[in-house]
Amino acid sequence: MKKTWWKESVVYQVYPRSFNDSNGDGIGDIKGITEKLDYLKELGIDVIWLSPVYKSPNDDNGYDISDYEDIMDDFGTMEDMEELLKEGNKRGIKILMDLVVNHTSDEHKWFIEAKKSKENQYRDYYVWRDPVNGREPNDLTSAFSGSAWEYDEESGQYYLHLFSKKQPDLNWENEEVRSRVYDMMNFWIDKGIGGFRMDVIELIGKIPDEKIMSNGPKLHEYIKEMNKKTFGGKDLLTVGETWGSTIEIAKQYSNPDDSELSMIFQFEHILLDQQPGKEKWDLKPLELLDLKKALSRWQTGLEGTGWNSLFWNNHDLPRIVSRWGNDKEYRVESAKMLATLLHGMKGTPYIYQGEELGMTNVRFESLDDYKDIESLNMYKERKEKGYTHEEIMESIYSKGRDNARTPMQWNESENAGFTSAEPWIKVNPNYKEINAESQLNDENSIFNYYKKLIKIRKANPVVVHGEYKLILEENKEIFAYTRTLENEKLLVVCNFTENKAKFALKEQIEFKTKELLISNYDADVNEPIGTIDLRPYESRMYKLTVHC
Ligand code: NOJ
Repeated sequence: MKKTWWKESVVYQVYPRSFNDSNGDGIGDIKGITEKLDYLKELGIDVIWLSPVYKSPNDDNGYDISDYEDIMDDFGTMEDMEELLKEGNKRGIKILMDLVVNHTSDEHKWFIEAKKSKENQYRDYYVWRDPVNGREPNDLTSAFSGSAWEYDEESGQYYLHLFSKKQPDLNWENEEVRSRVYDMMNFWIDKGIGGFRMDVIELIGKIPDEKIMSNGPKLHEYIKEMNKKTFGGKDLLTVGETWGSTIEIAKQYSNPDDSELSMIFQFEHILLDQQPGKEKWDLKPLELLDLKKALSRWQTGLEGTGWNSLFWNNHDLPRIVSRWGNDKEYRVESAKMLATLLHGMKGTPYIYQGEELGMTNVRFESLDDYKDIESLNMYKERKEKGYTHEEIMESIYSKGRDNARTPMQWNESENAGFTSAEPWIKVNPNYKEINAESQLNDENSIFNYYKKLIKIRKANPVVVHGEYKLILEENKEIFAYTRTLENEKLLVVCNFTENKAKFALKEQIEFKTKELLISNYDADVNEPIGTIDLRPYESRMYKLTVHC
């Protein structure tokens, strides 16, 4: 078993625009993050994944970058960034930068040049095609609605944009593009960052003419080259965002030979509450058995040959307590249960800002209060297709990305203590009930529960390295599993419903000692574990020592 620091770490994602505003302009900023490092240290995390802070016209909140080596004015300066790295370092917190290199902004100097003429030396940095029969080269669509091709009047060609038309795709076939990207990565590595989260990295090997987007034939060649020319041998954490990975592909990315990445994000579990073959907006209820199957397949599939990331949330996803928990009567219990389930698994856990407080989805009445380009474009498209306003809003309430982007709820003062000005997006009205200040001093809070889970991980190698096994496979209410490392075993039991449920072991587990490491209810530590009457959303994590 190869040990590395990132297997033992917990990562916390900061979405800077919504985290903490230090200068009273309604927008979170880098100084605001530095101010909150002690809060993060208190929680016990080791790494911050920082969503993009680079120069950007903000068509897609920073995922449209116009200068990779400069900082967005809204967020501060390069000095602020260096200060954040320094202050993070002092506290043993590393910073992962978000690497967005499938595309740039159309305001990046490369694209401004490329657009000037077909002969421009930057033209081939992007993907240009002639019209076919006076129309788009093919029917590829953008993730943000409509065609993925945008016509450029002046040159009479189309350019490719798999996201908004202000996010033209880079041409990774071009060796110069690759080497400019590697130079930029080394610029950040030299500043002392802890690694990279790689935005939609699976798309860089695309062949648009054959409509191959994810997992193109040269993808792994490029990643190996990137590894060699930048972070390889430097002991950094690298995590690739991949929506189309199978376990076999994941093994290639995260193979312990270190030739590619530390790990990937895979989204199989995240897709389970959408209708198959349809869009994320087309909802269907989650079946617990599907979730058990999906997560367990990845746990066992990568055992010994790769490494999992563990997450429920990020800036693109709805809040987990609203999605698969119960954000009303059992908000606290279900948030803790979901945390137990995830943090007991094998892999590196990621916490998205506010998840540690049990922050919930939001329901703004007016569409004007929504800011996300994806939701706004979808609204227009579905309205034209005849969906009703109410139907579309229900989809946005369940799946819209702004659910995760409302400001961090720090305290019960106006705007949840996020800003002294009007925030760029409205605060979730439940901030008086749900905020960090009230949770820090409450030993039963969700915050303190996450803190304890992180401590348990640090103190128990079985949490990091133990082998996973699903138990009670067919039980539709309880998600339970064990993790085994030498003579230690972890037993994790989670009631996924708002009803009582009986946990009954099929086969007795032999053990010498038993310790209840954590539970979200008061539980009798001496209660036998063979059968347990679980209360709504009850979860327990036991450590057992077993005979060798
Ligand atoms: C994935 C990012 O997480 C998302 O926020 C962004 O819109 C797209 N990639 C495009 O960069």
